[in-house]
Amino acid sequence: MSPTPTLSFVNLSKRYRDGTLAVDDVSFDVQPGEFLVLVGRSGAGKSTLLRCVNRLIEPTEGDVLFEGRSVRPLRGRALRELRRDIGMIFQEFNLVRRKRVLDNVLHGRLGYYQGVRGAVGAFARSDVEAAVDILVRLGLDEQALKRADQLSGGQKQRVGIARAIAQSPKLVLADEPVASLDPASSENVLGFLRKICKEDGITAVVSLHQVEYAREFADRVVAMKGGRLVFDGLPGELTDERVKDLYFQEGAEDEVVASPRQLAAAAPEPPAEGGPG
Ligand SMILES: Nc1ncnc2c1ncn2[C@@H]1O[C@H](COP(=O)(O)OP(=O)(O)OP(=O)(O)O)[C@@H](O)[C@H]1O
Ligand SMILES: [Mg+2]
Repeated sequence: MSPTPTLSFVNLSKRYRDGTLAVDDVSFDVQPGEFLVLVGRSGAGKSTLLRCVNRLIEPTEGDVLFEGRSVRPLRGRALRELRRDIGMIFQEFNLVRRKRVLDNVLHGRLGYYQGVRGAVGAFARSDVEAAVDILVRLGLDEQALKRADQLSGGQKQRVGIARAIAQSPKLVLADEPVASLDPASSENVLGFLRKICKEDGITAVVSLHQVEYAREFADRVVAMKGGRLVFDGLPGELTDERVKDLYFQEGAEDEVVASPRQLAAAAPEPPAEGGPG
């Protein structure tokens, strides 16, 4: 018997009030431990799809199942617990810029605290130790006591990963986590994200513009176009022809992100920053 998927999209559709059909009858499963990359040009519906998972957006039709249970009826405490199980990583990092890196990571634990303890940031010693461990694993131990706004973009996003992991999530959703980073930092960040998810057995759904990164990091790739699922397969099956046919529109040059120049520049970050290995 196959295990229950971590996530199932079941004929999911989302039509916004202005009539835009952003997600159009999408169905696929994400298996436990899988590192799934969602690609698609701007406006394909990637963010809308991801936000239906933790109910930041209400679907119009269909369902999302998390570990086999519909997320749609969840309210109050049950919804908070769902959101605790799902770590989010954002394009713009969403760190508290004036707080220390360590405090930003500890924010990931807030869902486990009630009332004044969480409000005043009185974290259990075990949580502080766990947060430090995560920072070490992400090569950020020397940054732990710096203010978040003193870090480079790549380091900030590694803090974003650390905060999501500190939540002890079962699933990580990352919406364009490297869209604000240069190619070298992008590879570094995706390398760390993949490594830590694999080590901890966390399922990941990562949306990316760059097909090259999908090929390099994904276990499996799903492509969307105009709200519809147009490809679901292994990275190796995402040939240039397929990318052109299924994913790009004629003359849509803005989507050809990984130029030869960018790929050549995509060398690992300098050793001082640490690498994913
Ligand atoms: N709040 C909204 N109201 C109306 N239309 C919206 C809203 N949010 C998004 N859309 C539209 O829904 C479609 C899908 O948008 P979405 O942001 O999900 O795409 P995306 O794949 O994440 O794009 P990008 O790569 O630019 O982030 C687009 O046509 C977009 O203009
Ligand atoms: Mg988006």
